[in-house]
Amino acid sequence: MNLVLLGPPGAGKGTQGHKLAEELDVPRIATGDILREAIEQGSELGSAAQQYMDRGELVPDEVVVGIVRARLALGDCDDGFILDGFPRNVGQAEELDEMLQARGRGIDACLLLSVPDADVVRRLSGRRVCERCGNPAQAVPGDEPACERCGGRLVQRTDDKEDTIRARLEVYRQETEPLVAYYAARGQLEEVPGRGSIDDVFEHMKARVAAMAPAGHRELR
Ligand code: AP5
Repeated sequence: MNLVLLGPPGAGKGTQGHKLAEELDVPRIATGDILREAIEQGSELGSAAQQYMDRGELVPDEVVVGIVRARLALGDCDDGFILDGFPRNVGQAEELDEMLQARGRGIDACLLLSVPDADVVRRLSGRRVCERCGNPAQAVPGDEPACERCGGRLVQRTDDKEDTIRARLEVYRQETEPLVAYYAARGQLEEVPGRGSIDDVFEHMKARVAAMAPAGHRELR
């Protein structure tokens, strides 16, 4: 299946995206992770993106659209993919539609994870991410836990400061939230409450995906 994960920063897109990608055996394409890798490598792309990310603003469309276009062209996306953090505005959604239509394909569903702002700020202030695989976790006071997926070191993201978190939330409201209406108008929006335990949210997501799976699609485990 070709899925889009939508939701405010901290809604759990990365957490659920990793699990769903394993479950469906398709790649998870996270533009935020790709941009952070570019920054770490000191590439031209990374230095162009960093100023926007540090302010909590969107990186220009032409940059992220180019990243996604190149990634979707790789053969491992032929049997489906999960987009995490893209599209982020209506312009990007239209570009995605064009990219996929050119291959006779489309999005099957947009899964919206809804979480109140107060939870977002609390979650992101305590978030740590694996510096190796990007898997998110919560900080445990006095402890230095390792990534539960790969054992990598957990670090704090530079944009997980309270003022940047609030800026990212505002950008979400202004620029990304219109995508809720965009996908709802096409009958492709599936809202999943993002509160509750990570496992409960995942069970809910799996049920929604199974209900929307096109005929002949591989069954969920
Ligand atoms: P990006 O990396 O995409 O960040 P984001 O959308 O702000 O989302 P987050 O990664 O912060 O949150 P998440 O929903 O993945 O939550 P997570 O699972 O980690 O983008 C960063 C920046 O890159 C943007 O600001 C922009 O500058 C740029 N960018 C990226 N894509 C772009 C695009 N398409 N166009 C332009 N610019 C782009 O969970 C958060 C925390 O909560 C974790 O600690 C987790 O352990 C915890 N948690 C998860 N689920 C639960 C639960 N059920 N209960 C309790 N805690 C939970």
